[in-house]
Amino acid sequence: MENGKFITLEGIDGAGKSTHLEWIANYLGGKGIRVLTTREPGGTQLGEHIRSLLLDHRQMMHAETETLLMFAARREHLDKVILPALNQGDWVISDRFTDASYAYQGGGRGVLIDRLQILESWVQGKFQPDLTLYFDLSIEVARRRMQSIKIADRFEKEQNDFFHRVRAAYITRASQFPERIQILDASHSIDDITDQLERILQPLLISLKP
Ligand SMILES: Nc1ncnc2c1ncn2[C@@H]1O[C@H](COP(=O)(O)OP(=O)(O)OP(=O)(O)O)[C@@H](O)[C@H]1O
Ligand SMILES: [Mg+2]
Repeated sequence: MENGKFITLEGIDGAGKSTHLEWIANYLGGKGIRVLTTREPGGTQLGEHIRSLLLDHRQMMHAETETLLMFAARREHLDKVILPALNQGDWVISDRFTDASYAYQGGGRGVLIDRLQILESWVQGKFQPDLTLYFDLSIEVARRRMQSIKIADRFEKEQNDFFHRVRAAYITRASQFPERIQILDASHSIDDITDQLERILQPLLISLKP
């Protein structure tokens, strides 16, 4: 049996990842694909515990501790959820993955890229998503969209310059891996974006048997 495809969604807080993840899952489900949706940090029982530590705005930690916890949760996520699902032919869509570590811990917090690369190859070897959708949005619009939603977590409490660095790091990642990472202009309407998504997903669907 063929392995499933692994799709990740990236972007700053409020860029529209969760909104479009749901759309993609429904769209692929409608094509008869078995889809598993998940998120990072988290996705496993242990990973969700790590997530609450990472997002708790009262919890102070060193930037490298934060990085190590992210990768620890990812190790568990790959082992318990992502790889088993892909191996049985399911498609997996994850709200964030390793590009987020480069953006938030690398760009945002200034953790050395060399260290992120070591952790990346330790935790996932050469394994990479088949497709990464990067939702690019200005910090101002993202903040406006998020305002009414919920109480800010440890990352969302950061100042604008933090998010400018995160966004810049995402854009750098996208330029380094143009074949894997597709950039979407998230300032467009939801309908425009889903049209774009439909086009972007077509090449992945070609491999499906009729
Ligand atoms: N293209 C769009 N145009 C207008 N509003 C949008 C668009 N995409 C998403 N939104 C709205 O913006 C808000 C944030 O979107 P969403 O929760 O999907 O972002 P997110 O990237 O998952 O954020 P977080 O990282 O905080 O989870 C939601 O209220 C959503 O309905
Ligand atoms: Mg979300």
